[in-house]
Amino acid sequence: MKFFLDTANLDELKKGLALGIIDGVTTNPSLIAKEGNPIKEQIRRICEIVDGPVSAEVVSTSGDEMIVEGRDLAKIHKNVVVKVPLTRDGIRACATLSKEGTRVNVTLCFSSAQAILAAKAGAYFVSPFVGRIDDIGWDGSELIQDIVGIYDNYGFGTQVLAASLRTSIHVIQAARAGSHCGTMPFKVLDMMFNHPLTDKGLAQFLSDYAKAFQEAPADR
Ligand code: G3P
Repeated sequence: MKFFLDTANLDELKKGLALGIIDGVTTNPSLIAKEGNPIKEQIRRICEIVDGPVSAEVVSTSGDEMIVEGRDLAKIHKNVVVKVPLTRDGIRACATLSKEGTRVNVTLCFSSAQAILAAKAGAYFVSPFVGRIDDIGWDGSELIQDIVGIYDNYGFGTQVLAASLRTSIHVIQAARAGSHCGTMPFKVLDMMFNHPLTDKGLAQFLSDYAKAFQEAPADR
């Protein structure tokens, strides 16, 4: 399972990348807006520090404009994956950009029917939003499972990128469903480390060792 950080914040990215387990980054217009720089500038900065796919989302709404904007975003850096919304125009833009060899992430996917359209358009990634499905009282993890199964039936090359992952349970559910990738905010990644028995066990190991050898940690 590939791990992406869902952020446009460079400090968070640096903290996450230092762990050595991050495969790429996803952004969206809301995340870019928080950083206060125009999309192209912020994406360029992100690509300078991330060795992996960096999703950059278009803000145009017509297919023709999305194609022009997508081509422009793709020129920023070889790591850029152009992100388009799952609308009729977005699917048309995805089909055109994909045929030209640009990798496309189709976002705002909330149903298996929509995911089939993204695969048919040659999307590199499709992003179903687990948390936002849960928000309306449906089961986001079932959607991931369904899309993975459908893609397997036909050998579609589109990778499922579970998005809107808000808790470590969401990450586990996406992994159980066989999602190829998961994108999460830094705080969710950080939450995955936590277990009281790890803390307790480590404290015990260190204190047993220190007692046996009567060493203060600084003397080691
Ligand atoms: O990048 C899109 C996505 O992950 C949004 O998450 O928590 O705003 O639903 P959320």
